[in-house]
Amino acid sequence: MRAVWLREFGGPEMLVPGPAPDPVPGPGQVLIDVAHVNITFVETLFRATGFGPFPSAPLPVIPGNGVGGVIGAVGPDADPGLVGRRVVTSTGGSGAYAEQVVVDATAPVPVPEGLPLDEAVAVLADGRTALMLTDAAGLRAGDRVLVEAAAGGVGSLLVQLAGAAGTRVIGLAGGARKVALLPRWGAQVAVDYLKPNWADRVRAEIGGVDVVFDGVGGTVGRAAFELLDPGGRMLSFGLASGEWADISEETAAERGVTLIRPTPTPQQLRAYTERALAEAAAGRLRAVIGQRFPLERAADAHAAIGSRATVGKTLLDLR
Ligand SMILES: NC(=O)c1ccc[n+]([C@@H]2O[C@H](COP(=O)([O-])OP(=O)(O)OC[C@H]3O[C@@H](n4cnc5c(N)ncnc54)[C@H](OP(=O)(O)O)[C@@H]3O)[C@@H](O)[C@H]2O)c1
Repeated sequence: MRAVWLREFGGPEMLVPGPAPDPVPGPGQVLIDVAHVNITFVETLFRATGFGPFPSAPLPVIPGNGVGGVIGAVGPDADPGLVGRRVVTSTGGSGAYAEQVVVDATAPVPVPEGLPLDEAVAVLADGRTALMLTDAAGLRAGDRVLVEAAAGGVGSLLVQLAGAAGTRVIGLAGGARKVALLPRWGAQVAVDYLKPNWADRVRAEIGGVDVVFDGVGGTVGRAAFELLDPGGRMLSFGLASGEWADISEETAAERGVTLIRPTPTPQQLRAYTERALAEAAAGRLRAVIGQRFPLERAADAHAAIGSRATVGKTLLDLR
């Protein structure tokens, strides 16, 4: 089958297309003919350094963790009635940049009728994450909610979910092109945080904030923390800047801010995935597919993400 291999950690050019053995489903497993692969930011960190939440797979490895497609075959002891189902699934941390994947028959999540597969793949990881974060934040109508990297994969969904919860959303993004997108997803205030004094601009527009969704970390995350009023909640879930915001419990307590770090069980993660698909099928959550590349151009997709050129979700298309 066609696949993309990572043979050494390093730049995007380390992602090289090449053949891989056709996988065969074993007992209790299913084979999925992949139509689309989602790429998450953390996969670019893994490619560059080996860092990441994935179980460490020895190199060379087929990277990637999220696909959607059609079940093409089942192994012994798996229900043959599954063949032909449209599904999305995580692949256990690796193996997704490929034409076919094999997973346990219990892993795939059915795609609701009417929801295109590419949109389902686009909300698979980001929708699950955004729903988990908005639940954990306990959003209340009228809250002022600051979303960093608001034009990104998770960010564009956080803006939508927070807006739908009746909050006032302040979206932060890098550059005029991205900032211009934020109001259409529900941001009331949209600020370019590549400009100096962006935090003063937020203060002038809306005063302090009640919730920060911090997927960037570093100086941006720390400046966002400073905008929180007493009673505020800070959710740090990423380090796109290369560094966590690193706010200590003591510092937060002095400011009357709660640091929230959701730790979902696998069952909860699955439930969030199912909810994300249902919300997308109902039209309440809009997948933002900003870029698509053929599988063989995974390196170009990673380069685009690493240079902050992307908006919304980046997909690899196989069919
Ligand atoms: N996808 C998930 O399911 C998931 C799960 C857990 C955690 N996370 C974390 O959530 C954050 C967002 O993930 P995502 O997959 O949705 O990615 P993304 O937001 O689509 O891409 C990352 C964004 O971070 C911003 N950024 C700020 N400083 C950057 C820098 N120095 N280099 C590159 N980008 C920079 C860029 O937006 P601007 O140009 O607008 O600043 C960039 O587009 C990441 O920190 C990720 O690790 C994601």
